[in-house]
Amino acid sequence: MPKLEISVFISGRGSNLKAILEHQTNYVVSSVFSNKENAHGLNYAKEYNIPYHIFDRINFPDLKSAKSAMLDKVCELNPDLIVLAGFMQIIDPKMIEKFPRRIINIHPSLLPDYPGLDTHQRVLADKKTTHGCTVHLVDNGLDTGDTIAQAQIDITGITSPELVAQKLLPIEHKIYPWVINGIADHSIKLNPTVTKLREFSYEA
Ligand code: GRF
Repeated sequence: MPKLEISVFISGRGSNLKAILEHQTNYVVSSVFSNKENAHGLNYAKEYNIPYHIFDRINFPDLKSAKSAMLDKVCELNPDLIVLAGFMQIIDPKMIEKFPRRIINIHPSLLPDYPGLDTHQRVLADKKTTHGCTVHLVDNGLDTGDTIAQAQIDITGITSPELVAQKLLPIEHKIYPWVINGIADHSIKLNPTVTKLREFSYEA
């Protein structure tokens, strides 16, 4: 079976990219894109000899032209799947049009609860005891695309956003490669009629 070719988009630390690189069973990371030239995650692309492409607005006349150049490049490479991993830029609607149901994201909350930023702070402020992460399809809304998989964690007694992240991040690193491998072996389908939410169970 040919491996699913994926492009991973990052903006910073890149810990999810690292996990994705370490679990390439049914898929292969064929390129990495960054909108920040100093993103730490680019080091993982270098370590694994993966071609990487930087479209930082500081090297372009404006954000629009940086985004347009990025779209041209990803269209040229035409990966099977675009995987957003801490990519902190609104996706160009044209990219969604060119890659329908072929762009996924990981979000640190149990969507539809807490879309957007600062999810850990907001969950703690609301005194929730259950939290988690969601892998979802990307559409033109903010974290509104169809959900593919979720993992829950108990945050009872956890008092800081940093400690929430410390508990959740290792789970993100398991669920994301698991989903991508599932898409690659067709056990997870992105077709509109059959996309359904899966609970991911992990060794706590
Ligand atoms: C993760 O918490 C992810 O859920 C969110 O951004 C963070 C990225 O972290 N979308 P990293 O860059 O993968 O370390």
